[in-house]
Amino acid sequence: MNKKYRKAVVAGNWKMNMSIAEVKPFVEELRANISKHKTCDVVVCVPFVMLSAMSKALRDTSRICIGAQDVSEYDSGAYTGDVAGSTLRELGVRYAIIGHSERREYQHEDDFKINAKVKKALECGLHPIICVGESKKQRDFGLTIAHIEYQVRAALHGVDSEEIKHCIIAYEPIWAIGTGEVATAQQAEEVCGQIRRIIKDIYCAKTGRGISILYGGSMNDENAMTLLSMQNIDGGLIGGASLKPEKLAKIIAATDQE
Ligand code: PGA
Repeated sequence: MNKKYRKAVVAGNWKMNMSIAEVKPFVEELRANISKHKTCDVVVCVPFVMLSAMSKALRDTSRICIGAQDVSEYDSGAYTGDVAGSTLRELGVRYAIIGHSERREYQHEDDFKINAKVKKALECGLHPIICVGESKKQRDFGLTIAHIEYQVRAALHGVDSEEIKHCIIAYEPIWAIGTGEVATAQQAEEVCGQIRRIIKDIYCAKTGRGISILYGGSMNDENAMTLLSMQNIDGGLIGGASLKPEKLAKIIAATDQE
């Protein structure tokens, strides 16, 4: 992390876990555990149907922000099952994960759709958390950086120099997600550094320095300290370990290091 230039961000991604009844106790416990750590933005991304309960539970806290796990690329219309950015905003949602590898794989979302979602999210006043990451095969073939560069450039096509300031990039190697096989700090640092270089190439040095880049993929309370000690890793997108408030709080605390 380099807090001189950018914000630390820890975002939990509940995926399709937890229940509406668990939202309030989770928030109470997390809130009690993170009050000391003021320098990190905390986001919890929950299933659509839990957003309302989350919004209610957080009414008197500004320390924790609400995130969605997806957003529609359209304003409104005949898109059964999708949710518009404007509706998310009505519920107090500030962030939206876009292009998670699970949606790329199971919902067949391609880079062009992801780009449309990023642009629509920005138009609605949401902060997109844009996910990129290579498969094991792409890594073995030496294609990691080429693949990441393609994904980042496609996701940000047409995003202007003001809008990029509201974006967060999450580097999530697919082989590390939910597998317990975490990337080494050096592997994660190399790719996050390259993402920063790509942002500098597209925009300018200042924008590259200022964007928060997260690592995701089996990050937990035990390995967070090492990963977050790297210059180009500004936080984490946390799946499994975000379901336990005490674990998430420990990861947040790990962003306190200089
Ligand atoms: P994980 O998931 O921490 O369970 O590996 C991370 C993610 O998919 O965002």
